[in-house]
Amino acid sequence: MSEPEPTNPLLEPCRIGVWSLPHRVVMAPLTRSRAAMPGNVPHALNAEYYAQRTAGRGGASLIISEATPISPRAHGYYATPGIHSGEQVRGWRLVTDAVHDAGGLIVCQLWHVGRVSHVALQPAGEPPVGPTDVASQSKTYVDASMARVQTSRPRALRTGEVAGIAREFEEAAGRAMDAGFDGVEIHGANTYILDQFTRDGMNLRTDEWGGSLENRLRLALLTTEGVVRACGADRVGYRISPLSEHHDARDSDPGATFAALARGLGALGIAYIHAVETWDRATLDPRTPDVIPRVRVAFKEAHPHPERAAYIANGDYSPALAGAAIADGWCDAVAFGRPLISNPDLAARIRAGAALVPWDRETFYAGGAEGYTDYPAMGAG
Ligand SMILES: Cc1cc2nc3c(=O)[nH]c(=O)nc-3n(C[C@H](O)[C@H](O)[C@H](O)COP(=O)(O)O)c2cc1C
Repeated sequence: MSEPEPTNPLLEPCRIGVWSLPHRVVMAPLTRSRAAMPGNVPHALNAEYYAQRTAGRGGASLIISEATPISPRAHGYYATPGIHSGEQVRGWRLVTDAVHDAGGLIVCQLWHVGRVSHVALQPAGEPPVGPTDVASQSKTYVDASMARVQTSRPRALRTGEVAGIAREFEEAAGRAMDAGFDGVEIHGANTYILDQFTRDGMNLRTDEWGGSLENRLRLALLTTEGVVRACGADRVGYRISPLSEHHDARDSDPGATFAALARGLGALGIAYIHAVETWDRATLDPRTPDVIPRVRVAFKEAHPHPERAAYIANGDYSPALAGAAIADGWCDAVAFGRPLISNPDLAARIRAGAALVPWDRETFYAGGAEGYTDYPAMGAG
């Protein structure tokens, strides 16, 4: 008799916030720039794409939507579906209904890009806003040509304006619930606005929103408090990328900064904290084995219900590595990004021990069904 295959711990059920998940394969947020234009509106093709990736079809137990701009000023890239107009809320309803009909759960990743934007994407062609007027040394795309252009020099938010950003997140969270989402994830990663305020290399303010660690975390925590009011703590996640240096972001002490943030988030009782650990294991930051456990422990220690507080890991995980990370207690679940682009039924493939289909980066952003809804499920191709 042959030995049965040991089951990958990734396929064991778990509890995150209000959700009892059949397994621990989560879908990472993935911008695909396929909203209907003008208006940045989600539509039927997007609904089909997400429905294909639900647990009911062998995909993720929890889908985190692509980053979703919370207000007109929150946009930093072309054709990203927002959640600030009635038309967008109705568009998202198509998506959430399709996901639920296919046996899935989906949270909305709430996004404000801050300074990582371009005047062509901003209302009335005004400069984007950020903690300071220092431009991000990064590029974006502003129209269907997808040509890369330098981001614009931002305007520093005035002291009296900063709390308004937290209110925008709270209002967008309310609209996400109206659109039928199961919860929200606050995008605090990849050097968008909350990360811009959090990191000491970019937040050079001297008012109550900058300087000390407490001041730098004020916007992130105020935002989370508001979003918790809108959705309930058990339906809220927060994403960080403590060691990434996207968009020339730096922090002098990511371990201390992000453990303090995690402690504050834990005290608010949110469902999960989610970290981009890397995009490439070959260049993993050597501080990772120190920083990530500090974040995880701080979050859970401060949490009123640690048994349903989760740490979701992300970044260039193979199914085997993800299973080992769960077995080691490194994380509770793993979010897969690129593998779920090209393997809509990723969990079923892992269960079957099937080979994974490689992704085509040429079709990541913009376009139509090609490279979006035409990756087949096992047995369907
Ligand atoms: C096409 C593409 C779009 C992405 N869009 C987002 C996004 O909207 N929000 C976000 O937080 N991260 C975004 N990311 C980062 C992914 O969520 C993830 O952190 C990264 O792909 C590494 O995970 P992976 O190795 O499992 O793909 C994106 C990555 C890719 C490749």
